[in-house]
Amino acid sequence: MSAADTVFAGSIPELYERYLVPLIFDSYALEIAGRLARTNARNVLEIAAGTGVVTRAVASQLPDAHITATDLSEPMLAHAKSRLPDQRVAWKQADALALPFDDGSFDAVLCQFGVMFFPDKVQAYREAHRVLQPSGYFLFSVWDRIAENEFADIVTIALATMFPDDPPRFMPRTPHGYHDVERIRAELNEAGFSDVSVDAVGARSKARSARDPAIAYCQGTPLRNEIAARNASGLQEATEQATKALARQFGDGPVDGRIRAFVITARKTA
Ligand SMILES: C[S@@+](CC[C@H](N)C(=O)[O-])C[C@H]1O[C@@H](n2cnc3c(N)ncnc32)[C@H](O)[C@@H]1O
Repeated sequence: MSAADTVFAGSIPELYERYLVPLIFDSYALEIAGRLARTNARNVLEIAAGTGVVTRAVASQLPDAHITATDLSEPMLAHAKSRLPDQRVAWKQADALALPFDDGSFDAVLCQFGVMFFPDKVQAYREAHRVLQPSGYFLFSVWDRIAENEFADIVTIALATMFPDDPPRFMPRTPHGYHDVERIRAELNEAGFSDVSVDAVGARSKARSARDPAIAYCQGTPLRNEIAARNASGLQEATEQATKALARQFGDGPVDGRIRAFVITARKTA
């Protein structure tokens, strides 16, 4: 992983929330909140909370939950906080690899599409395990391979044409770079989780036109940093190339692509 892959700052939080969250994150947030609601866990830690899509889903589905929402990025967290001024939510900047909480502080830990960004997954899993009470739940999700996530794949291919000598590889390298279920199980086991279940969950990614997913990926993710590193004034052209490639595949009107992820439940031994 490149250091720039975890930089969610500048214009990214606002564009992420506006374009990417409705495109690919909303439906999985409801899935995680629904799974949490079926447990008796109510003292919840969220890690890599981003702009708070899961935080909002949990606050709305579980009126009796207390949520501590954390992320490495202050700008992402500031955006999340501005959208959910709820007294049941405590916001705190925190690195998932060194959580600033005592052992056994929570009865559930949530992490939607965050673990792919952690440089040491086992260490992050150890931290989740440490802060959980016995029988506590660790619920998290990862994207499946990029070929199963059509818009991300098409944008990546389009940008490889624009930068043939050094194609931006953020999407396959990081968000879509951690989908080997056996590896995930082994790493959870190594961190102390023995009770692990993994579900493949497919969904549809929909937008008004090809331009919205092009903006979402090229401007609302750290792919933006990779494009800027290759051509400081190339962001609009990259977005244009991505729009054209998406429109060639999905047409000029509303677009509807396949997305697929794994949703994982790991339980700490009683
Ligand atoms: C793809 S976003 C997911 C955000 C949110 N969970 C969602 O579903 O929209 C990945 C998030 O991981 C955060 N992140 C990256 N490295 C992290 C770390 N070491 N500890 C905590 N958060 C981290 C980023 O700041 C970013 O907000």
